[in-house]
Amino acid sequence: MRKTIIAGNWKLFKTIPEAIDLANGIKRELLDCVNVDVVLCPVYTALSEVAEIIQDTDIKLGAQDLYWQDEGAFTGEVSGKMLLDAGCSYVIIGHSERRQFFAETNETVNKKIKAALKIGLTPIVCCGEMLAEREAGNTFKVLDDHIKNGLTGLSEEEALKIVIAYEPVWAIGTGKTASPIQAQEAHKYIRDQLAKLYNKDTADAIRLQYGGSVKPENITELMKQPDVDGALVGGASLQVASFSEIVKKASTVKK
Ligand code: PGA
Repeated sequence: MRKTIIAGNWKLFKTIPEAIDLANGIKRELLDCVNVDVVLCPVYTALSEVAEIIQDTDIKLGAQDLYWQDEGAFTGEVSGKMLLDAGCSYVIIGHSERRQFFAETNETVNKKIKAALKIGLTPIVCCGEMLAEREAGNTFKVLDDHIKNGLTGLSEEEALKIVIAYEPVWAIGTGKTASPIQAQEAHKYIRDQLAKLYNKDTADAIRLQYGGSVKPENITELMKQPDVDGALVGGASLQVASFSEIVKKASTVKK
């Protein structure tokens, strides 16, 4: 059984006081929600404060990126060691916004995954096609590229520790969600690729999240899909009510 995992990607939003309010609100709402792994991913500056708020709960802290070196002359970067120090146990890697605006490639994604695993952080590895790629019929080709090259050199044991987020770029922040059928088709494809790279048991154990305009109104249908094990939520994770409702609805879907 794969445990449902819902992560909130707060992106470049929330000052420290705002992050504290949001984390406190989510904590209040989700105290009893124990059958879902909940991960909050604030901006770096708010990590420590959010860590303090959730320390006595099952809610986990994640960062939105990391650098693969532990330390050194790398101005502006943050390492896995430092994220661990701030209270993180998860880290998002290879988000499409990083690929689009910050020159992230499969090669840097691969280095970051390895660095995260080495230090004991769980990577949430993002993959997904752009609209033009979908329209050109290249969705699976893009997923192949992101998965095979992103996971290069990972052992089966390491692969079992990662979470993969399928996020069609055309659905991120656009209000356009992939239909449950489109999401399932992509998730099934990713799982089949993982089975080819490793084996069926490993592929069946890896959790796959869907991301892209997830809302309280669409989470239930998405979660009903056999290969959708959770969600990476952007916009709707910025409000206590919408994020808590997503988690609560996801927690009631029986597989
Ligand atoms: P969205 O973002 O929910 O606002 O579409 C999802 C993401 O980018 O992780």
